[in-house]
Amino acid sequence: MHPPREHRILVSTSTPMSATAPPVLSLNAVSKDFHARGYGRHGGDVLRAIDGVSLELRDSQTLGVVGESGSGKSTLAKLLVRLERPTSGEVSFMKNSIASFDAPGLKMFRRHVQMVFQDPYSSLPSRMSIRQILTEPLIIHQIGDQASRLERVRELVDQVGLRSSDLKRYPHEFSGGQRQRIAIARALMIDPRVVICDEPVSALDVSIRAQILKLLHDLQADRALGYLVISHDLRVVRYLCEDVAVMYLGRIVEQGRTAGVLERPAHPYTRALVGSVLDPEMATVAKTRRLSVLSGQIPSPLDRPQGCHFHPRCPLRSKLAEADQARCVTERPGLRALPDGRHAACHYAEKVLEHDRPHAPTDVVAGAG
Ligand SMILES: Nc1ncnc2c1ncn2[C@@H]1O[C@H](COP(=O)(O)OP(=O)(O)O)[C@@H](O)[C@H]1O
Ligand SMILES: [Mg+2]
Repeated sequence: MHPPREHRILVSTSTPMSATAPPVLSLNAVSKDFHARGYGRHGGDVLRAIDGVSLELRDSQTLGVVGESGSGKSTLAKLLVRLERPTSGEVSFMKNSIASFDAPGLKMFRRHVQMVFQDPYSSLPSRMSIRQILTEPLIIHQIGDQASRLERVRELVDQVGLRSSDLKRYPHEFSGGQRQRIAIARALMIDPRVVICDEPVSALDVSIRAQILKLLHDLQADRALGYLVISHDLRVVRYLCEDVAVMYLGRIVEQGRTAGVLERPAHPYTRALVGSVLDPEMATVAKTRRLSVLSGQIPSPLDRPQGCHFHPRCPLRSKLAEADQARCVTERPGLRALPDGRHAACHYAEKVLEHDRPHAPTDVVAGAG
């Protein structure tokens, strides 16, 4: 007996975006602690990688998550696909807690939420041919028969820019960029609603990053996929995502439309991130806005500063009156809505925006690191 044939995967589906539809994926006040065993004087301490994050991803939405290395981005991705469990808070798929899913529920969830990892060298099974790698998801989810599966495999191989003759080859025969194309095809085989991409081009040669980004962009546009794109590189998120969340030490510090947030950041951390990009177009933004570059290291999540986590590195703080500066040290700013609809977690976000006016004093510009 043939498994039930699924038609959905054979036609490109596009779900109309609706603000009233429930989010496909959501995090509600999620925190994640790790035990930092054997970390020097901190051995046995608890490391909070994610700290009370709430986030929603809707159908067709392209949401980027940016922040320096160590800010908790990969942990966030793992929580979203249940590779990690939250210490507190809830991750939901279509309003259902993913922690409660039984085996069939989890299978359905995995069908709709796929992931593309950073490293295409370790993420593909070495002993399987490309054809086997791409057919496997269809078999697991009992989609189609042999002929329609092969048809689907050929279709995807073509869409990601590989050739049918590549199907009999093995991952080690391909370059990093081609492997990432295979990983992307595999993620799309079962027509998911959401693809989570964790640093999708960071492990690739600089020369081929643009091609893979274009591929990701075109695939999203064609099928109205939801994307959650994680990157330490603002340019990746600017290219792929309409919305952005900026993370610092496990918290979201700014969130809104990518264009608005990057063009005129409301959080000093976002300003500094934008100021640190060495891309000509963004450098122009940085110059006209007189942004400082980011100085110093991100603190260890084991030694998180009091009050605003960013205050020891904050270029704005020294420009505030002393009484105002004290607040940054004592009071943790929550994420709050600003008049343009974005959210920022800075007591002085309005001042940051005002700072961007042409007569504002020039920031100290340290060497880009
Ligand atoms: N399994 C783990 N055990 C202990 N600490 C971890 C583990 N995974 C991540 N961390 C720590 O959590 C913090 C966030 O890491 P990660 O989510 O990988 O950040 P990012 O992807 O933004 O670089 C880091 O300090 C990292 O060392
Ligand atoms: Mg990471």
